[in-house]
Amino acid sequence: MRKKIVAGNWKMNLDLEEGKELVRSLIQEDLSAEVECILIPSFVHLSEVSKLTEQTTLKLGSQNNHAVNGGAYTGEVSAKMLQSVGVSYGLVGHSERRIYQKEDAETLSAKVQQLLKNGINPIFCCGESLSERKNSQHFETVEKQLQLLWELEPKEFEQVIIAYEPVWAIGTGETATAEQAQEMHAFIRAQLQKNFGTLAAQCSILYGGSCKPGNAAELFAQEDVDGGLIGGASLKAKDFAAIVNAF
Ligand code: 13P
Repeated sequence: MRKKIVAGNWKMNLDLEEGKELVRSLIQEDLSAEVECILIPSFVHLSEVSKLTEQTTLKLGSQNNHAVNGGAYTGEVSAKMLQSVGVSYGLVGHSERRIYQKEDAETLSAKVQQLLKNGINPIFCCGESLSERKNSQHFETVEKQLQLLWELEPKEFEQVIIAYEPVWAIGTGETATAEQAQEMHAFIRAQLQKNFGTLAAQCSILYGGSCKPGNAAELFAQEDVDGGLIGGASLKAKDFAAIVNAF
């Protein structure tokens, strides 16, 4: 059985007090025990959120980590540091970082390695732009983005979660239809199967992009959609809880 996962990517939102308040509210919510819930706040929040969630089932994730484990890299944060504050999942390859920070496959591959070395599960993000979708290049794009995973050992791959986030659906209010999501998730699983055989069936593939309480149930009902990576709707405890409970 694959894990059902709902992860909230807070992006660059909420100050420390607002973040703590959100966590306190979430702890009051009745969250399905079948679903692994992951909070992915900014670096600023991590250690406080870690303390608040210590006695709960909520897990902690990071939005980014550096490609090396430590040293003279002013302003950067290593996977080793993240592990030390209780991070157990790490986003890699989010489209916002691919676009704004120009992160390429080589960098992303090194980041994945750093997470794995420090016992953190990478949540590897992929997804096509609007023009790629319009030109029917979406499968090709995602296939290319996934390629850096093929160098992993099977033992390493077992730690990886995939998030499919079509760029045109992020923060736009426009969600992929359940059919579009299923089609791509099945394609991704077929690629995983080609490279890792039966392990592909165990890998959770999350959908991200304007996922809300109103559309989560339909998306999560799809055979190959194992949960969601939630942006905007993860900033409200009630909405996030409704998405978690939408399975
Ligand atoms: P939205 O849910 O705000 O569209 O963001 C999705 C996302 O990018 C999560 O990583």
